This record gives sequence, structure tokens and C-alpha cells, in this order.
Amino acid sequence: MGKTSKLRLGLVAGALAAALAANALPAAAQPAAAPAAIERGKILTQPNVFGLFTTLKLNASWNAVPAKARMAAADEVKRLVEKHKDNVLVDIYLTRGLETQSDYFLRVHAYDLAKAQTFMRELRATTVGRHSEVTETLVGITKGLNYITKDQSPGLNAGLFSATYSGDAPRYALMVPVKKSAEWWNKPLEDRLKEIETHTAPTLAFLVNVKRKLYHSTGIDDTDFITYFETNDLLAFNNLMIALASVPENKYHVRWGSPTVLGTIHSPENVIKALAE
Ligand code: HEM
Repeated sequence: MGKTSKLRLGLVAGALAAALAANALPAAAQPAAAPAAIERGKILTQPNVFGLFTTLKLNASWNAVPAKARMAAADEVKRLVEKHKDNVLVDIYLTRGLETQSDYFLRVHAYDLAKAQTFMRELRATTVGRHSEVTETLVGITKGLNYITKDQSPGLNAGLFSATYSGDAPRYALMVPVKKSAEWWNKPLEDRLKEIETHTAPTLAFLVNVKRKLYHSTGIDDTDFITYFETNDLLAFNNLMIALASVPENKYHVRWGSPTVLGTIHSPENVIKALAE
């Protein structure tokens, strides 16, 4: 064997040994690659991210908490959000005055659902948490597109990515759970694709004033999807829902809302301050 062949053989053996060493742990024991800190811009656009939605209603006992302590509760929540900022992204919306079953709702994003659970447990132990009842909790996970992909539906896919939100900064957030019938899930993919194309076509025009986000919940909660929207134009949102009520896909919905949760967008601290007033 010549010198060059020996050298090549040595390099290949070295690379193999390194690869084997790197794979020494069985797959299940390898630590999940969790990012060091949560970045809003990233976590809100990535697939395989958990979204935990919780609506809460204040008990009458909250009114008996001295005004000073109620105000201090806002700082306490701010500190808690800060404490967990490497594990979860927390958004809190004010629903008091707009909803019957809640005064505020949370949307918590995490790569690891257990971290979102820990945050929620600690929130329930804060002053405002101790005086609140949970009225709804929904868990979902983000995914890539199932239907309107470049390959399956190139025209609508291009429309989806060319439209950008150009309205005023959204002041409203909405959460709408959706569940579909067994008949839907038993349809062949090509039929479902056609239905989702008729869902997407009339909605593209609304992307200029409605921001959307979809979470998948089948099997991890009692719904199939959690849909989340932000807008500054509730009339446009109302027209969007009417457009979707009138497409055949709507016949397969066994849950569409129930509850529909509408809140206003503020910092977590300001939501609690508003509830403390
Ligand atoms: C700006 C408005 C909207 C646009 C552009 C839009 C677009 C889309 C697209 C492209 C998909 C397919 C995703 C995929 O390929 O996997 C989809 C799915 C979905 N959308 Fe919309 N949508 C809008 C509004 C809404 C509204 C208002 C609702 C109801 C509250 C809704 C509920 C859903 C649901 C539940 C799915 C999942 C359907 C399934 O996988 O069976 N969307 N939407």
C-alpha cells in the first residue's frame, strides 16, 4: 500500500471513530437541542413549538385584596415572566369587558411543554394567579404546511408568502379552536387539499389586515386546531369569518369557536395593572 492510500485509510478510520463516539448515546438519551434563550422572532415562526392557551377569570376575592397589593401583583408577574424568559415566551391579553368567561388570557410558547407547565404553575401561585380561576386551557403545536405547499398548490403558496400585513399595529388578539369531523379525516388527501384550497383562496385578501397562526392539537387536546389572529380591524375579521363560513370546508367543522376569545394586546404587566384598577 502506498503512503497516500495509507494516509487516506487513516483519515477514514479516524472520521469513523469520531462519528461512532458522537453517536455513543442511544438516540433517546441524547439531549434535545434547546436554544439558550427564547427569541420572539424565531419561536413564533418555527415548527415543533408548543403553544399553551389559558383563559382565566378573577374571583370575587380579588376585589378584597388591598389596592397596593393588587398593583404590586403586576410587578410580580413581570418578574416571573423575566425569570422564565429563557424557557418560555409569554403573551398576556386583556379580555375583561369583552368576554364573560375570562378577564385575561395567556399564550405561552415553549420548545418543551413541561417548561410552559412550570411557568403556569408558578403564575397560579402569584397574587393574581391565586385569585383567578382557569376557565379554558388548550395545547397545540406548530407545524409546517400540510396542504398549501409549493409542490401541491404553487399558486396559493405564492399568494400566501407574497402578502404582508400593512394595517396599523394590531390592538386585538383572537383565539378560535377548531375541530373537524371523522368524515373530514377519512377523506383522501387530494380531496382535503381541494377543500383547503377553497379555504385559502378567499382568505388571502385579508392578510393585509389580519395576522394568523395555526396550532395543531389532535390527540394532545380535545380539539384539532387552535387558530390565533391579531388585527386592528375587527370588521375585516368579521368579513373573513363570513367568507370562511361560506366555503364547503365549513361543513366538516364540529367545533368552530366555543369559546372564541377576544382580547386586547398589552404588555403582561399592563394587563395585570388594568385588572388591578
Ligand atoms: C388571513 C386569513 C387566513 C389565511 C390566509 C388562511 C390560510 C390558511 C392556509 C394556507 C391553511 C393551510 C395550511 C396548510 O397547508 O397546512 C389554513 C388552514 C387552516 N385554517 Fe386558515 N387562513 C386564514 C384564516 C382562518 C380563519 C379565520 C380560521 C378559522 C377560525 C382558519 C382556520 C384554519 C384551520 C382550522 C386550518 C387547518 C385546516 C386543516 O388542516 O384541516 N383560518 N389556513
